[in-house]
Amino acid sequence: MLLNFDAGPAALPREVLAQASAAILEYDNSGLSLLELPHRGKIFEAILEEANSLALSLLGLNDDYQILWFQGGGRLQFGMIPMNFLGSEATAGYIDSGHWAAEALRNAHLYGQSRVLGSSQADQYTYIPDWGAIPGDLAYLHLTTNNTIYGTQFHSFPETTVPLVADMSSEILSRRIDYSAFSLIYAVAQKNLGPAGVTMVAIRKSMLDQQQRALPEILSYRDMAKNNSLLNTPPVFAIYTSMLMLRWMQEKGMEAIENESIAKATLLYDTIDNSPLLYGVAQPGSRSRMNVCFRAHDDKHTQQLLDFAAARGIVGIKGHRSVGGFRASLYNAISLADVERLVDTIRDFEKTV
Ligand SMILES: Cc1ncc(COP(=O)(O)O)c(C=O)c1O
Repeated sequence: MLLNFDAGPAALPREVLAQASAAILEYDNSGLSLLELPHRGKIFEAILEEANSLALSLLGLNDDYQILWFQGGGRLQFGMIPMNFLGSEATAGYIDSGHWAAEALRNAHLYGQSRVLGSSQADQYTYIPDWGAIPGDLAYLHLTTNNTIYGTQFHSFPETTVPLVADMSSEILSRRIDYSAFSLIYAVAQKNLGPAGVTMVAIRKSMLDQQQRALPEILSYRDMAKNNSLLNTPPVFAIYTSMLMLRWMQEKGMEAIENESIAKATLLYDTIDNSPLLYGVAQPGSRSRMNVCFRAHDDKHTQQLLDFAAARGIVGIKGHRSVGGFRASLYNAISLADVERLVDTIRDFEKTV
């Protein structure tokens, strides 16, 4: 198998893939494939229940929160947040820390007013912008806590009384933070959580009464919550595999996951900082532990290193098409040994130049 550092769809642990494959053939001696299970039957109900309780427990959230599962990816959440929570006369705050943050902001304009409280766009999003004082009358404040394309990550969060809404797609459950500071957290599964096809939402239940307009049920957090994510036929495979990944994280423990994440990122950044050929893109104070973005001083080395790594079975380290260079995504399924393999490859490449 190739070693995959792609930003998403991303690597999953072999043991999770093995269990998911077995369940497709037959789910736990039930006589049915996972893909044939009735979504309102007892078996799937238990899978959903386990996924919900594992997610709450790993996030350190209590009964004030509910876990919901949506299709439609991050982009649907960009639309649903203002659609549900931004009245036409109200204003929402956004921190413009990258392409996905800007896409989320673009959707707010469809439903109400928005205010950008900080932006690093003029500097190619190479850092997390300062945000200053947060007005107390905002409907909510939206952040993208980890910027997948630019390799930047919030290392502290705005202190505010307005509901904090966060896109944590490319970092969910990679570090211990106070998740209860947020009123709504969303994360597409295909990075740190499972396969594409589902987005996990953790919502503070008091938000469910804040719907600002009539909406089709399928676009309403309130109605989805009332129906325990079973308003329509859910993506059974994606939820099951995410549940396996949550179990895998539970067994490892958040402390070990965070410590390994720090060790992985430190090793790779140190290698880049000491490389005669490479340099890091994000400003040091904003560096992401999840997506490490770097470039070659001499552009001719970019394709050469990509080819050299591919010949050693390492893929997915090409930077996003909008920024070029390299990006290694160090999500939870990537081990320290995997990063050591990448680092050895970079060092061996340097010797060939
Ligand atoms: C932080 C972040 N948010 C949202 C998205 C968009 O997710 P989707 O393609 O599932 O809509 C991405 C995609 O890479 C992302 O990195």
